[in-house]
Amino acid sequence: MSVPIERSRARLRAAVAGWKAAGARVGVVPTMGALHAGHISLVEAARAACDRVVVTLFINPRQFNNPADLESYPRTEVSDAAKLAPLGVDLLYVPDPDQIYPEGFATNVSVGGISDGLCGAHRPGHFDGVATVVTKLLLQTGAERAFFGEKDYQQLLIVRRLVRDLDIPCTITGCPTVREPDGLALSSRNARLDATARAIAPALNCAMLGAAAALAQGAAAAPALAAARQDIRAAGFDEVEYLELRDAATLAPVETADRPARLLAAAWVGGVRLIDNIAVPPDT
Ligand code: PAF
Repeated sequence: MSVPIERSRARLRAAVAGWKAAGARVGVVPTMGALHAGHISLVEAARAACDRVVVTLFINPRQFNNPADLESYPRTEVSDAAKLAPLGVDLLYVPDPDQIYPEGFATNVSVGGISDGLCGAHRPGHFDGVATVVTKLLLQTGAERAFFGEKDYQQLLIVRRLVRDLDIPCTITGCPTVREPDGLALSSRNARLDATARAIAPALNCAMLGAAAALAQGAAAAPALAAARQDIRAAGFDEVEYLELRDAATLAPVETADRPARLLAAAWVGGVRLIDNIAVPPDT
């Protein structure tokens, strides 16, 4: 059993048009490949909710603010296709670059406000690249539902916003972060952690859980987050890029968790940038 791979936008559209004509609900899971159990959970959610499932694999150069990061991003199409084969995926769309960015491409989708802080502040241009490619992938696939991980929480909110703002007829579903048993959020970047960094990495989620518990009890954000930052550095992280408490819907900064809030972090260990986020109070 193998997954049909399509590289042409026109043939993708023809396949989806045929499914829709037959009354099928079409779902899409956009990815950059290097698939792990987090992606698999998105595919399973799509499979459960839709009649036909398209997975996209496109390593989008416009969302890499660091050329070295793009260069070293894992390219694993063959093993990705093998992972999808048993899951009942109808089509793997691996567009040739000119199918996404034809010569002369000059349009940029930029979602104001919600893209500004957190990862947006530290990765200039990243979210414009994400918003532009997601817009294209949703329009090209014509899917009625799309599935994104909560692991990239700011990205999820940006995608929800752009779909509303641009009247793209697609329902966005956020799926819970999948974690290693020690709490480390699954990420394609985890493969780059050496043994020492891998042993330190769960300290990020651990410190966040501690801070979230204090915040859920009414603690003020500034001291709770300062203590958590210190714990993360003491565990061996090289740098805490940000650790912030934000409104869960708007990402506006909040001083206490007196409304649904989100604790979000990015930190560096062993040359690898890890991100994580959790609900405050915790999801039940
Ligand atoms: O989350 C990702 O893997 C990427 O940002 C996405 C949504 C596939 C866009 O390139």
